Amino acid sequence: MSPPTMQSRAPSRSAAPPAPRRRLGAGRSGQVFEEFQADGSRLACKVFLPDRASSIVNTVLTGAVNPYRWDRHAVECAVLRRRILETLVAGWFAGRVRLPATDGACWNESARAFELRAELIAGRHAMLRHPLAGVAATETAELVREVLHPLQGHLEAAGFDGLLWQAGRGNPVAAANFMRAEEGDRARWVWIDAESGVPALFPLNPWYLLRTYLPLCVKHERPLFDDVDVPRLRAYVMESQKALTERLGERGVARLRADVDALEASQARWRSLPRHRRSVASYQATGKITREQARHYIDKPVRWLARLAGRACVRAPAKLWGVVRPWVAKLNPRHVAAALGRYGRFFLSQDVRTRWARRHVRRRVLDWRGRGFLDLNGVRAVRESMAGGNAAEYVADFGVHLAIKPAIKLMVWGLIPALKMMGVIDSWWLVGALAVYGGAIGRTVYTLGRTVQALIRGRPAPWIALAAGLLPIVGNAAYPLQLLAATHARDGLVARFLVHDILSGVGRRLPIWGGKDTLMEHWFNRLACLVTRA
Ligand SMILES: Nc1ncnc2c1ncn2[C@@H]1O[C@H](COP(=O)(O)OP(=O)(O)O)[C@@H](O)[C@H]1O
Ligand SMILES: [Mg+2]
Repeated sequence: MSPPTMQSRAPSRSAAPPAPRRRLGAGRSGQVFEEFQADGSRLACKVFLPDRASSIVNTVLTGAVNPYRWDRHAVECAVLRRRILETLVAGWFAGRVRLPATDGACWNESARAFELRAELIAGRHAMLRHPLAGVAATETAELVREVLHPLQGHLEAAGFDGLLWQAGRGNPVAAANFMRAEEGDRARWVWIDAESGVPALFPLNPWYLLRTYLPLCVKHERPLFDDVDVPRLRAYVMESQKALTERLGERGVARLRADVDALEASQARWRSLPRHRRSVASYQATGKITREQARHYIDKPVRWLARLAGRACVRAPAKLWGVVRPWVAKLNPRHVAAALGRYGRFFLSQDVRTRWARRHVRRRVLDWRGRGFLDLNGVRAVRESMAGGNAAEYVADFGVHLAIKPAIKLMVWGLIPALKMMGVIDSWWLVGALAVYGGAIGRTVYTLGRTVQALIRGRPAPWIALAAGLLPIVGNAAYPLQLLAATHARDGLVARFLVHDILSGVGRRLPIWGGKDTLMEHWFNRLACLVTRA
C-alpha cells in the first residue's frame, strides 16, 4: 500500500499563489510572505521550508524533515487546529487574544513544499525596552502574565498537549509567535504561529522536560510535536457545550465538532506512517526520488537505509566543499588585501571611524524602526543626539571593540588550540580561560591605550569603559556605558539606545533559544534597564 503522500499532493482550498510576494519573516518551520488577493486584501502565506538546523533535528528524531513541508495529513491537521483554536481562544480571552483567520493550505510546486495562508496581521511583536518606549515598555510582562501563562492552562485543559510548546512553556522562542495589533479602540494579542519547528524536547528549563514534555511523549508514544489529545478535546467541547452554544449558536458548535472529528482522522493518518516510510515519502514529495523509486523502497526499509547511507558517503565531500567554498573564495589574495586595507584604515583614521559610527547608529535605528519599536520622531531624536559632545568618538571606540572581535576569535579558537596541540602551551585551563576572557582582554588592551592617550593629552579618560570592558558579554557595551556616564540630557539618548541595542543583540545571537523577538532577546534587553532606567 502506498503512503498518503504518494497520492495526489494537493489538499488545496486556495488557488495557486499570485506574485509578487514580500517576505514578512522566517522561523524554524517556514518562511512567511505577504500576498495580495484579487480583491485587494492581504494574506500571510507561510511556505513550510524549514531551516537547516531544525531539519537535522527532525531527521534524526523522526526520520524526515518537518512534516508540514511534505505530509498532506500533517498540513490538514495544522489548518484544522488553527480553525478550532480560532474559536476556542476567542472565548478563553473574551476577544483580547485571537488567532488570524485561517484561509487554507495547498501544495507549492516550485518550492516543493506545502503552504498555509492566514489573515495578515498589521501589528508588531512585543516592544523591546528603550529610552523612548514609554508605557509600551511593559508589554513583555503583559504577554507572559496575561497571555502565555493563562493560554498554557487552557490548552492543557482542552487537550492541546503539543501546543504548550508554541505557547511558550519552557520555550523562550515562543514569544515570537505572538504579535500585538491595534484593532479598533484597543490592542489585541494575536497568536500568529501554531506550528512547531522541532519536537518539544528542548525546553530551556530542564524541569519542564521532566514535568511536562517527557510524560506527554510517553502518553502520545512519540516525540511530542503539536499532538492533540482528541478524546480530551472532544470531552472539553462537551463540557463547554452551553457556553459555546450561547456564543456560536447550534451551527457554530456543529462546525466545531466536525473540525474535531476531521482533526482526529487526519492526525491518525499522519501518525500512522512508520519511520522509514516517512523518510521515503518526504524524499518523494521534495523531488529527491521519483514516484517509481518511492514505490520500490516503500516496503524495503533495509534497502532504503543502505541507499541513504551510500548516498551520504558519496555526497558528503561535495556538501563539505559547498560549506567550505565561500570561505576559500574569501581567501583570494585581492579580497584579503582589500579587507586588510579596510581594516587598517579603520584603526588608523579617526574620520573613517566617525563615519562608521554614524552609519552604525543609522542602521540600528532603522532596524528598530522597521520592527515598529521607534517612530519617526524617535529616529530623529536618537540621530540628533549623536551630533553633540563626545558621542561619535565613543561610538567609534565601540566600533573598534567590535572590529577586533574577529581577530580575537581567530586567535582564541584557532591559534591558541593549535599552539596547545603543538605543545607550546601546556595547559587546557589556559586555553579555556582565554576562550572565556579573550574578548575582554582584547577590549582592555585597546581601552588601556586610549586611557593612556587621554591622560597624556590631559583629556577625560574612559575609566568606565576600561572597567566594564573587563566583564565578559556585558563588556560589549563598555563604550556606550562610558558615553552614558559622560553625557547628559540630549546626548544621553544615543548612549542609552545603544546599550539596549547591544544587550538585546546578545539575546538575538544566542543559539537554540535566542533570536529576534524571543524572550531571550527581551531578557537581555531588560538588563540594559539597570543602567539606563528605561
Ligand atoms: N499572519 C501573520 N501576519 C503578519 N506577520 C506574520 C504572520 N505570520 C507570520 N508572520 C511573520 O513571520 C515570522 C515567522 O512566522 P512563523 O509562523 O512564526 O514561522 P515559524 O513557524 O517558522 O516560526 C513571524 O515572526 C512574523 O514576523
Ligand atoms: Mg514561530
